[in-house]
Amino acid sequence: MRKKIIAGNWKMNMTPSEAVNLVNLLKDGCENALCDVVFCVPFVDIAAVTKEFEGCKNIAVGAQNMHFENNGAYTGEVSADMLKELGVKYVILGHSERREYFGETDHMVNKKMKQALKRGLIPIVCVGESLEMKDEGITIDHIAIQIKRAFKKIDADDAKKVIIAYEPIWAIGTGRTASAYQAEEVCAGIRAIINDIYGDETAEAIRIQYGGSMNAENCESLLAMPDIDGGLIGGASLKADFNLITGCVKE
Ligand code: PGA
Repeated sequence: MRKKIIAGNWKMNMTPSEAVNLVNLLKDGCENALCDVVFCVPFVDIAAVTKEFEGCKNIAVGAQNMHFENNGAYTGEVSADMLKELGVKYVILGHSERREYFGETDHMVNKKMKQALKRGLIPIVCVGESLEMKDEGITIDHIAIQIKRAFKKIDADDAKKVIIAYEPIWAIGTGRTASAYQAEEVCAGIRAIINDIYGDETAEAIRIQYGGSMNAENCESLLAMPDIDGGLIGGASLKADFNLITGCVKE
């Protein structure tokens, strides 16, 4: 049985003091949730947010990106060890906004995946199609390539730890959500791709989230789907609604 995992992706929102206020609003609800809860916050908020969550066992802090090298002359970048030392457990990799605005490629995502796993961080790796791809009917082909490249040279034991977030680009921040059936079809397809690469055991173990305008109204039907093991939530993670989402996980 896969434990559900709900992650908030704050993106470039919340100063450290705003972050503390938001966490205090959400903390009690998240502590009582029956799923794993992750707060993927801006780098500068990590120290303050981690402190607020000290002792909360089902809540973890995540980052939204990291560099694939250990250290060195990479101005403006942050390493896995820096995140680890602050108590970070998860890191979002290959979000479509990083791919689109910061030129992240599948190859870079693969290097970051390997580095995160080597350093003991759990990647939340994002995949998903554009509206054009969806209309052309090549969603799964595109995602299969993204996954094969992201997981290149990663063994099954490590692959099992990874969270895959299926995020159709046309649904991110648009208020346009994939229907529960559409999202389930792709998440089941992703599990089949993992099965092809690693076999049944890994495919059954790996957790797959849906992301893209998930909110308090649509979360219940999405999370009821057999291959959807959680959500990656942007806009709705910045308000009290986030607790309605974590609270809707029943098992
Ligand atoms: P959204 O963002 O919930 O605001 O659509 C999701 C994401 O980009 O992770």
